Amino acid sequence: MSIPGILYQGLGTLLYERFALPPVAALHQAAALLLAERLPPRTRVVDIGCGPGELLVRLGALRDDLDLIGIDPVRRAIARSRRRVRAAGVRARLVREGVDGLVHAVGRFGCAVAIGSIKHWPDPAAGLLAVAGAMAPGGKLYIWELDPGGAARMEDVNGTYAQVSRRVLAQCLLPSSLPRVAMRDLIVGAGLVVEDEGVVAGMPFYWFIARHG
Ligand SMILES: C[S@@+](CC[C@H](N)C(=O)[O-])C[C@H]1O[C@@H](n2cnc3c(N)ncnc32)[C@H](O)[C@@H]1O
Repeated sequence: MSIPGILYQGLGTLLYERFALPPVAALHQAAALLLAERLPPRTRVVDIGCGPGELLVRLGALRDDLDLIGIDPVRRAIARSRRRVRAAGVRARLVREGVDGLVHAVGRFGCAVAIGSIKHWPDPAAGLLAVAGAMAPGGKLYIWELDPGGAARMEDVNGTYAQVSRRVLAQCLLPSSLPRVAMRDLIVGAGLVVEDEGVVAGMPFYWFIARHG
């Protein structure tokens, strides 16, 4: 596991939920709205590295026909997600496993999502190959990731505990993030077709939408 990956062990998931998540909640809401608008009925969605389940809660509230699955190798993340989706009245299955576990799920998912998780995978190239293999023909992969070369600055990150959050993002997470060009190469290297990409206005994140086959 990468050094930042260790951050989520123990109390890490709770600290992430408390300090790092609130300033980027708008990103999760925008992601949920985009997915809710685009996904065909009853799509099976896997949220890879779901953390405390923010996307699952928001997406499930918008679309109750989706088959939502969250995976994360950290026990506390899965426990937190499970509690939060239940409290929100959202149906989602939570499975404790890393991205590598997807090698056993060939062709199963119409949609895969990874928000801020790829930089923590031990081998992002192998991980994306597993993701590509787990996607159904025509399925889509949506990525949002911290952008180490982004125009948006940490000073733009606002919200509760903004100062602590900026420090966590800037000192722990940003240095280990993959530059956008490197991410594009990895996506293409996994045999996926990049359909669209861009940066999130006012936040140090880029995004990709890639298609299977
Ligand atoms: C920055 S958090 C993002 C959580 C969530 N996606 C969100 O947007 O709030 C990164 C997550 O990646 C997870 N992670 C670490 N190693 C992983 C792996 N090998 N496969 C999948 N997820 C992993 C961590 O446990 C953590 O929950």
